[in-house]
Amino acid sequence: MNYIPENIVSEIRNAADIVDIVSDMVILKKAGKNYQGLCPFHSEKTPSFSVSPEKQIFYCFGCGSGGNVFSFLMKHEGMSFPEAVRTLAGRVGIEVPTRDLTPEEKQRFSEREGLFDLNRRAMAYFQHMLWKSRAGEPARAYLERRGIKPAVAETFGLGYAPKGWDHLIRSFSKKKIDPAFLEKAGLTVPRKSGRGFIDRFRDRLMFPIRDIRRQVIGFGGRVMDEGLPKYLNSPETPVFSKSRTLYGVDTARAKARETRQMYLAEGYFDVISLYQAGITNAVATLGTALTREHVRLLRGHAGEATLVFDSDQAGVRAAVRSVDIFRKENMDARILVLPEGHDPDTYILEFGAEAFQGVARKARSVMDFMMEDAVKRHGLSIEGKVRIISELTGPLGTIEDPVARSLYVRKLAERMGVDEAMIMDKVRVAPVGQPEKRAQSEIKPASFQGRRKRLEKKLVTMMLQFPEILPEVADREVIDRFEDPSLKSIGQSLVYRYRDYRGGRISELIDSVDEAHRAVAANLAITGEEWTREGCLNLIAQFETGQKRGSQDLLQRIEAASRDNDQALLMKLLKEKQNQARQRHNKT
Ligand code: GTP
Ligand code: MN
Repeated sequence: MNYIPENIVSEIRNAADIVDIVSDMVILKKAGKNYQGLCPFHSEKTPSFSVSPEKQIFYCFGCGSGGNVFSFLMKHEGMSFPEAVRTLAGRVGIEVPTRDLTPEEKQRFSEREGLFDLNRRAMAYFQHMLWKSRAGEPARAYLERRGIKPAVAETFGLGYAPKGWDHLIRSFSKKKIDPAFLEKAGLTVPRKSGRGFIDRFRDRLMFPIRDIRRQVIGFGGRVMDEGLPKYLNSPETPVFSKSRTLYGVDTARAKARETRQMYLAEGYFDVISLYQAGITNAVATLGTALTREHVRLLRGHAGEATLVFDSDQAGVRAAVRSVDIFRKENMDARILVLPEGHDPDTYILEFGAEAFQGVARKARSVMDFMMEDAVKRHGLSIEGKVRIISELTGPLGTIEDPVARSLYVRKLAERMGVDEAMIMDKVRVAPVGQPEKRAQSEIKPASFQGRRKRLEKKLVTMMLQFPEILPEVADREVIDRFEDPSLKSIGQSLVYRYRDYRGGRISELIDSVDEAHRAVAANLAITGEEWTREGCLNLIAQFETGQKRGSQDLLQRIEAASRDNDQALLMKLLKEKQNQARQRHNKT
């Protein structure tokens, strides 16, 4: 199943820096030899996600995921191994030959790149129509009416999809692009009659949606009158998923990292207006409800998010829902509720950037927001207060910092006019840092218990961290005598692949390990042990004597059992001996 020549895979692995790649999605801080950050694969508030620049691997001590740079992309982007390899190849500028592939394989592997390319060309087409064609005049006027400067429109790659049924299709068929592939990119839809296609976006102002590396993954299109639907988005495609896309992430990232802050707005125009007002660290969801996935992405770029909402009912309801997701994902958030009827775009247009900055500074913490919201809903009657208190004790219990928790408890007590201790009593402090349910394929290395398994674990760690010893391990057939199935599997892959080891990094060794055991291998590999050849030989010898002692023990026990005429025990011990013998014969 390996379509890419091993030497090229290896070249790509060596050229790509895992710290660099992971940094796209996770804020990493140097901690000793390694880097640490909040795990992108589970929700946590204290970092247990480690990346080793020296070993080029990652491991999360919270959820047990781990591997090398390929595993990271596979897990984070849901890619296959060849896709991960090809993606990285593109980033480090290494050419991957495709000539050994069948056309079908070629198409599958290059589909993502094909879609990026097509989207980029569609963006260029829409831009051309906006700025260079007569047909684009109304769209240029519309932008002007909405106060967007051409330079800013340019930064966001805005364009115009012309009126008519098939302008895009016709323009692209001249370039020999199949309408069916356009459909795959979500740029066309089949005609109702069933034959042929029409453009999906017609007479709309176009917003290209880009990922962190500025690849165009989809589009949003707005009507320029009162037509419906007001916005139309690309459908889900192999490169576009709304539940994990934030509009503007490409323009917002730098400032977000610098200020540790990200504004989360609701619409395309909000992001663009904020940007134009100098608040470049703003993103928006794409008209879908906020997901935990979104919050995890945000956490990769900023420590805290400021959620900007309209103060109408729908806006407040959305705020409440979002706040809950931030709480579940353990990410800090503040809530900025704008005056009734305003979104960031209209607010800035009417009052200016400075006024916006002014209200932004007064954004409320999540707890304050929830308190005010509860008061608004339940009122301050006795019944209302009872409800408010019972509603807020749960969320109060999830505040990890005890100081912050007790301050909020006091605040609530004062507001409700009750005794602080009474509320504190009801607040059940939630256990912190509960990792989510682990995927079944991930085996937790902590389970290697007992002397024997601990020794096996140590041996595999040694093999990963001091691969020079692999030929020795292979010759002495150490792995065949392993008991633990996952350690045995890792050991066997290493020995099989590297019985004549001639160099290679840990990150490479890990690729030869079965996918189900890769995270365990990463866990063993990332520990900071120092190895010498002598130490390794000692460890192997220790394992071998343990083995011998085990079989000698058995012989003695068999003798004893036959002396005592304990038939049941004798049978059991003989069976055990048979198993041992079989194991020794099976080693080839
Ligand atoms: P403007 O009127 O252009 O300022 O847009 P807005 O962002 O203020 O619009 P609104 O608050 O109505 O919507 C917020 C976001 O929801 C938009 O940016 C879109 O992403 C999405 N949205 C709004 N209307 C529609 C719709 O009709 N269909 C879809 N799919 N999404 C919509
Ligand atoms: Mn708006």
